[in-house]
Formats: sequence, structure tokens, C-alpha cells
Amino acid sequence: MMGYGYDPHLSERSLKPPLFLTSTFVFRSAEDGKAFFELAYGLRQKRPNEEPGLIYSRINNPDLEMLEDRLAIWDAAEGSLVFASGMAAISTTLWAYARPGTAILHSDPVYGGTDFLLKKILPQFGVHPVAFSAERGVEAMQIAAEKTRKSSVAAIYVETPANPTNGIVDIAAARVLAEQLATDGRRPPVIVDNTFLGPLYQTPLALGADIVVTSLTKYVGGHSDLIAGGCSGSAPMLQPIRGMRTILGTMCDPHTGWLLMRSLETLKVRMTASSQGAEHVANFLAAHPKVAAIWYLNFLPESHPDRKVFERQCRGPGSTFSFEVKGGEAEAFAVLNRLKVIKLAVSLGGTETLASHPSTTTHSDITREEQTRLGITPGLIRLSVGIENPDDLIADLDQALGGQLRPADG
Ligand SMILES: Cc1ncc(COP(=O)(O)O)c(C=O)c1O
Repeated sequence: MMGYGYDPHLSERSLKPPLFLTSTFVFRSAEDGKAFFELAYGLRQKRPNEEPGLIYSRINNPDLEMLEDRLAIWDAAEGSLVFASGMAAISTTLWAYARPGTAILHSDPVYGGTDFLLKKILPQFGVHPVAFSAERGVEAMQIAAEKTRKSSVAAIYVETPANPTNGIVDIAAARVLAEQLATDGRRPPVIVDNTFLGPLYQTPLALGADIVVTSLTKYVGGHSDLIAGGCSGSAPMLQPIRGMRTILGTMCDPHTGWLLMRSLETLKVRMTASSQGAEHVANFLAAHPKVAAIWYLNFLPESHPDRKVFERQCRGPGSTFSFEVKGGEAEAFAVLNRLKVIKLAVSLGGTETLASHPSTTTHSDITREEQTRLGITPGLIRLSVGIENPDDLIADLDQALGGQLRPADG
């Protein structure tokens, strides 16, 4: 992550990659321009030793190319593509694979924006969502598949662990189902949203997924100061997505790409520190009398069907989890309003700890009935633990749960 894909001697010996803030690139000759476009638009195969040339920052840019090479290493992928947001990565990927009259089998719950895309936007274009409950395992996946014609499944879309419940979906089982759905030698790709644990604690491509999508806004960016998304997979899987990105213009900008390269250098230390902190915070919350339940992955009971899948598929529980306070929305709001150190904001994966109320914010587009079915209850608070001293976070949660009032003078 410190130097891969970059040669200082090609850039005035600058230790760090320069920021290529340019919309377009100058061709040495008209013949070069022609050759670069032929490759970029897939009009012919690459000749031996031929390298694709830089054209225009919607198509390619050195900062984005270096970042993509590094992200591909993290995701154990042949290649990666970076986007303007996690939603840009998810939507561009789905546009690349879905067609009118097809269906997308997807786990439920998923992040609120993805939920809206699947249930409200794609149906306007004749693409239908078929949901299966993350909590009900392989059987639910198969029942969902039976609801639709085999040949019509465009993709299996999985978010695991799920936002905000940490429900686990078996990626290997999704791949088996995709194989069963194959018709005429083609099978739907398995797409996995790896935002909650990726890339440090989960590698979906190694577990049978074809494409991994990540909101780089979260742990990868890691400082709550940018919005970006990533998509990794094999070259053939990425090809239609790359084409769609070029035309929709959903790529990441060079400055954000440069920031992300800097973030990748510290990704492991940040994720490790926040995971350690989260364990302390989760232990404190689990023992608190005002906490009715906690969805921290290490606490999955041995008897829970998710436990085995979690152990097989993840290398750690990460640092984002939800907990349920007794007393419903009123008490959850009271706790959130009393927090002093922990900020009340809707994101995750940053250096600072954030708390949010999924039911009325990130997942508020989902009806209350659906929310209840999915476990997004009025008393649920989502916490993304950062890298602060966990004792400070515990003291803050303790006073917020204990009900001491914020001093009038702040
Ligand atoms: C699991 C998950 N996927 C995707 C997204 C969307 O990412 P972005 O906000 O970068 O578009 C989010 C955002 O919260 C998320 O939590």
C-alpha cells in the first residue's frame, strides 16, 4: 500500500504519487489517440506489450489506476474500479447486469439507499427485486429463487454483515444457488456488499462471490472526509461495469482517489484499533441493565445458525454493531441526545465513534411494519466505534444510558 504501482522516477522522484488534477491527456500523435480509443472502447484486442494509454479522466487517470491496483490486492481480485460513492458502485454494477424483465435476488435488510434502488427505482425499469431474509439462511435463499423463472435472475445481491442488524448471509451458498440457476452456460453473478467488514476482515471473492462492492466512504476512506465506492472482480466480470461507468460518468475524482491511497496505508492499523475498542464497548453494553439486546458478531451464540457461517467467512467482528435500548424510540432518542464524546451522525468506519438511529434515518424509507420484520426496531441504536480510547466511549455511554443530564453550560 506504500508504493505498489508507482515509480517515483517517472514523476520527478516524488516519494508520493502526485495528484493528477486534469480532465484530459495530451496524445503524442493522432495515431496514439486512435490506438488508445480502440483499446478503451474494446474495438480490438491488446497487441503484445501494448499498454492502454491515458485518455480522459472519466475513462482513466493515473491516481485512480494506482488506487484500483492497490484495492484489487486488498480484495484478492484481478482488478478494481473506483466510483464517486458506494451507491455509484452498487448502481453502476446493477445497471451493467440487470435488463428489463429480469429479477435480482437480494438479502434483506440491506443499506437503506440500496433498498430504495432495488425496491423503488429498478422496478420502474422492469427489474424486479426478490428478497430473502438474511436471518433465515440458505433455505430462504432457495425459496426466493423458486419465486422467479430460473433464466430471469440477473444477479444475486448479498449484503453481509447486513446494515444495521449484522445479519450474516452465506456467500458460498449464494454461489451454489447461482450455479443452480445457470441456463445456457450462463449464471447470474454473486455480488457482495463488503462495506461492514471489508477488506480486512472478509474477502468475498475468496468465498465464491464474483463481484465485491464497497462503500469506500467508510473504513477504507476512514476519516469521514470523503465519499467513494469500489468494485472488484475478475477482468471479464468488470468489463461491462467499466463500460457502464464510462458512460454514466460515475467514476471517482482524482483528488478523492489520492486521499484514498493515503488512507489505504493505515487501513489495517485503523481497523484493528477500532475492532479492539469495539470489543470493550460491546462488553460494557452487554452487561448494562438498560440494554435489551446487542447485535455484536462475537456474541452470536454457538447454537445460532449464523455462528458457523460467521466463523467460516469472517476474520473478525469489525467495529459496527447495533444495540437495543429498553423503552423504544423515546428512550433511544434520550440516550442519543445525551451523548457528549460520541457524535450523532449517519456513517460508519471513521476514526471517530458515531451513533445513529436507523429506524428514523438510514432506513426510514422502509415502512415500520417491514422494519419490525427486519429487526430494525424503534429502540435500536447503531454504533460505529472509532479509534479513541474505549474508556472514554464507555464513560460517555454510561452517562447517556444512566440518564444524567448534560450540564446547561455544555
Ligand atoms: C452497507 C452499505 N453499503 C453501501 C452504502 C452506500 O455508500 P455511500 O454512502 O458511499 O454511497 C452504505 C452507506 O452507508 C452502507 O452502509
